[in-house]
Amino acid sequence: MIPRPRLRSDLSGSYELSTGAIVSGPADLIDPVRLALPALDLRPGDAGAVDLRLDQELGPEAYRLTAGSRGVEIAAGGPAGAFYAAQSLHQLLPDESFRAVPGGPWHVPGVRIEDAPRFSWRGLHLDVARHFLPKREVLRMVDLMAVHKLNRLHLHLVDDQGWRVESPAFPLLHEVASHRPRTATNHWREPDTYDDVPHGGHYTLADLAEIAAYARARAVTIVPEIDVPGHASAILAAYPSFASRPGEYRVLDRWGISPGILSPLPPTVEFLTTIFDELLGALGETPYVHIGGDEVVLDDWAASREITAYRESLGLGSAAELQAWFLRRLADVLAERGTRAVVWDEAFVSGELRPDTLVMPWRGMGVGRRAAAAGHDVIATSVFPLYFDYAESATPDEPMAIGDTITVADVAAFSPAPAGWAAQERERVVGAQAQLWSERITDPRVLDYRAWPRACALAEVAWSGAAGDDFDVRLAEHLGRLDAIGVEYRPLDGPKPWQRRRPHRPGVVRVSDVMNHLEQMTRSAESTRPSM
Ligand code: ACM
Repeated sequence: MIPRPRLRSDLSGSYELSTGAIVSGPADLIDPVRLALPALDLRPGDAGAVDLRLDQELGPEAYRLTAGSRGVEIAAGGPAGAFYAAQSLHQLLPDESFRAVPGGPWHVPGVRIEDAPRFSWRGLHLDVARHFLPKREVLRMVDLMAVHKLNRLHLHLVDDQGWRVESPAFPLLHEVASHRPRTATNHWREPDTYDDVPHGGHYTLADLAEIAAYARARAVTIVPEIDVPGHASAILAAYPSFASRPGEYRVLDRWGISPGILSPLPPTVEFLTTIFDELLGALGETPYVHIGGDEVVLDDWAASREITAYRESLGLGSAAELQAWFLRRLADVLAERGTRAVVWDEAFVSGELRPDTLVMPWRGMGVGRRAAAAGHDVIATSVFPLYFDYAESATPDEPMAIGDTITVADVAAFSPAPAGWAAQERERVVGAQAQLWSERITDPRVLDYRAWPRACALAEVAWSGAAGDDFDVRLAEHLGRLDAIGVEYRPLDGPKPWQRRRPHRPGVVRVSDVMNHLEQMTRSAESTRPSM
């Protein structure tokens, strides 16, 4: 099984589970169990083959599962625990049970499992801004996350290259900022080349409501990100009046860090408050909203007389402090709505944040440790080994990636809360999340290739705390389940011929060099990464 349960012991006896078997217990536990086992088409009834019970001694995601000759008994701490028990039961069945048609009867081996997650945040980040992913692909990603007991889907909804949500109040966002006429195809530091193919798309608010409800039913929380004040070219193409420097802006068709940033003045805060209200209205209960804060080039703030006067009126000494103030102001707006802000680590480095703001240290665990020591909840998101847009191997056989190398073994060896940290710092790490930046993830087939099976290793680390000694053996078995689902993962020995696509250039951007550069940058409290 992946992720590895806390305790598993094999018992004698077994059970034949048939399509249409009866599931009994409280309704709010039956629904998630039926959703997790679609091929079994379980029917609610009395005294079933699968018997569910609420056990309030267990955490909300925890469960106990016993299978023997009399059937399957599940005790769960809540609907999420019941859902995860059913996912574990599913992995006790043959690979065929992962196909989208009813089957069986299936043999359930005698077993007792006691399980609960090590970390509460087990996330995947999808950059739907650089390359849009249609709604159906987002729903499919939720299904795949559910199989792996991953529970946070971070949607990066805006960047320089596109805005991806309907806005009734600011319609030029989805009308103008959601598409570009072409996209850069060149490797880093090579002459610019473009595909001359229009690219775009956005989710309606009804789409977002559907995604959130679909995810919630599968124990997945949607974490929307409106990345500000940098990465703002698409917003400014639609509404240049929110710029820090007057000018014309356009949705970018190439990568890197752009200097165009939002003004921090009150109209921008009002604009973003309206956007938050539209988002939260669609998504329903939303415990977290990510507000970005990464890779902000503050030159336009420093050059603007109006913004400098505003900063001075607030008694702030630098543009960096103003950036922290601006993000704190937005976090206050979210807090009034019962939502916690999440930021990339530059926002933490720039000045004092609200204490309840969660920090994602993408530039390395060094800055993550500092955020934890300052009392912030931290989600491990370090480029190495959690940026899954890096290639798994430094060979030209790989499809074009931003750099290399991050392997399945690198992910499996990762420790979100390192043993060398103080206990109070370790306690602040709420989990880990892999990032799927999409500059070079051009479509869902490439997404499958980049995400899996590395996300299997992420799931193991985030649920179980560390990969088990037998992880490789279990992963090899698990690939049969992914085959049955239809996931076009990267085979462990390298790509299939048709997965090679535009060849990767090994060594052009090495993840070890990027990490060294970023660690140096965070030490000098600056904020940048090589613009690739
Ligand atoms: C990031 O990679 N700019 C968060």
